[in-house]
Amino acid sequence: MAMSQTYGPADEAESIATINRALDSGISLLDTADIYGQGHNEQLVGRAVAGRRDQVVIATKFGFVAGGGGRRLAGEPSYVNAACEASLKRLGTEYIDLYLQHRVDPATPVEETVGAMADLVAAGKVRHIGLSEASAEQITRAHAVHPLTAVQNEWSLWTRDHESNGVLAAMRELGIGFIAFSPLGRGFLTGALNGPDNLAPADMRRTNPRFQAGNFAKNLELVDHLRELAAHKGCSVAQLALAWVLARGEDVVPIPGTKKLKNLEANIAADAIELNDDDLAALDDSFPLHVAAGARYPGKSE
Ligand SMILES: NC(=O)c1ccc[n+]([C@@H]2O[C@H](COP(=O)([O-])OP(=O)(O)OC[C@H]3O[C@@H](n4cnc5c(N)ncnc54)[C@H](OP(=O)(O)O)[C@@H]3O)[C@@H](O)[C@H]2O)c1
Repeated sequence: MAMSQTYGPADEAESIATINRALDSGISLLDTADIYGQGHNEQLVGRAVAGRRDQVVIATKFGFVAGGGGRRLAGEPSYVNAACEASLKRLGTEYIDLYLQHRVDPATPVEETVGAMADLVAAGKVRHIGLSEASAEQITRAHAVHPLTAVQNEWSLWTRDHESNGVLAAMRELGIGFIAFSPLGRGFLTGALNGPDNLAPADMRRTNPRFQAGNFAKNLELVDHLRELAAHKGCSVAQLALAWVLARGEDVVPIPGTKKLKNLEANIAADAIELNDDDLAALDDSFPLHVAAGARYPGKSE
């Protein structure tokens, strides 16, 4: 995502090199969306994986429609078909491994949208389907129309809502994989950020409640806990945050975002960190539900 938008400028050559290094290192899942950079990100992924398509699981998403200076949600079957065709073209591929509805469209019953997604599976254009930022009820209703392979929701040490709001329980009951987005807390849980003023002018975190001055300072105290345990474990703060998500279960796949080769290498190394019961208990103590100061997104209550 951030190779095309959200967290300030990106270097295209380093982005492509980073994607290829990820694949060389055995990472196979690449997550994108049609709205990321308004098509730019899918084109970038398509260029990066050209010639090695069979080594990659491409997840892409539809459902946000940009226009008129804002964006709206869409989920009607004709839109789903058109969006899929456009994504296939931008990605330069004949099939999408995992096609996700980015947000359920309140104006279209999820059953209708998933019905259209199931038709794409039957046509061979899509291999697996899922939802993103979905509730337990939406997941259950969608899964009854066509099995969902994965759901992509936010999960990290400072966003643990799905452990107790029924989403994780429903997914485990139905056998659906959890793709954890923003597992590094949009960069906050790396310890690399020290204040909102140091973010690039176009960085969207400037408008994110958790990154506003007062909340930023409170949330930095959370990073201090991580710093202490990371020092004890001999790893970095980011690696510890990622190791915690990796330890959630075999059915949980974190998708940390980075546009930098050096951060990619560091994140890969998090896979080797073993957290014991004492480590996990210490993290539970420091990161209870709703510990973060500020909502996840502007306009949200939590
Ligand atoms: N479905 C949805 O609605 C949704 C929403 C948000 C995100 N996502 C998906 O989830 C992916 C990841 O989420 P995200 O990018 O929002 O958040 P994230 O993975 O939690 O954090 C990314 C931030 O952390 C920094 N970072 C990464 N590794 C680092 C390291 N080792 N040391 C220091 N800093 C590091 C990155 O900067 P550098 O680039 O400089 O390394 C970037 O600013 C996105 O690419 C997107 O595919 C989905």
